[in-house]
Amino acid sequence: MFGEPLRLDDVFGPDAAVVLDIGFGGGEGLIEMASARPRECIIGVEVHTPGVAKVIDAAESNEWEHVRLVEGDVLDFLPRLLPGSLSGVRIWFPDPWLKRKQQHRRIVRPSVTGLLVDRLRVGGTLHVATDIAEYAKQAVGVLDAEHRLRGGVVPRPEWRPETRFERRGLAEGRTPTDLIYERIT
Ligand SMILES: C[S@@+](CC[C@H](N)C(=O)[O-])C[C@H]1O[C@@H](n2cnc3c(N)ncnc32)[C@H](O)[C@@H]1O
Repeated sequence: MFGEPLRLDDVFGPDAAVVLDIGFGGGEGLIEMASARPRECIIGVEVHTPGVAKVIDAAESNEWEHVRLVEGDVLDFLPRLLPGSLSGVRIWFPDPWLKRKQQHRRIVRPSVTGLLVDRLRVGGTLHVATDIAEYAKQAVGVLDAEHRLRGGVVPRPEWRPETRFERRGLAEGRTPTDLIYERIT
């Protein structure tokens, strides 16, 4: 996955607003956002091949020029992005890694969020949604500690698509928490 630095101007054209969707799963959310916001470019990164295939189908049938996909681990892909090149990062319903011994794998952790903030432009946003209350609390701690960010818990944005992960959580009695932080410096 490591490779040449990726100039997003070359991929999407100059001054495009580019959002990185980390772990788009089955692709429902990515497809809905790509359809609703054709001027917002999306790079989706996912390790799960069936989800990637579903988004490729949607992108081909809609002839989307504003969607690109990476099949693989976002941690391998991130180093290819230039600092300040993203207008947004979405981490919606990240794998929760509930067992204490596994929690170091959570994607919202200082070493990863530091890299993500570096790739965000000033004014860009990092949006995390999770229905694991303890993960939300931990994420607030991680993101509050990043001095380049300002933000916190927000009401669930109406525009965020509801995916099967969210529906499953709601059916099991969990409520999602949305966190939106802006890079301020
Ligand atoms: C619980 S699902 C949520 C999917 C989607 N965001 C949604 O809200 O419906 C989390 C997804 O993150 C993906 N994922 C986990 N770690 C990843 C990584 N390091 N790089 C890319 N994708 C990852 C998993 O394969 C899984 O599909």
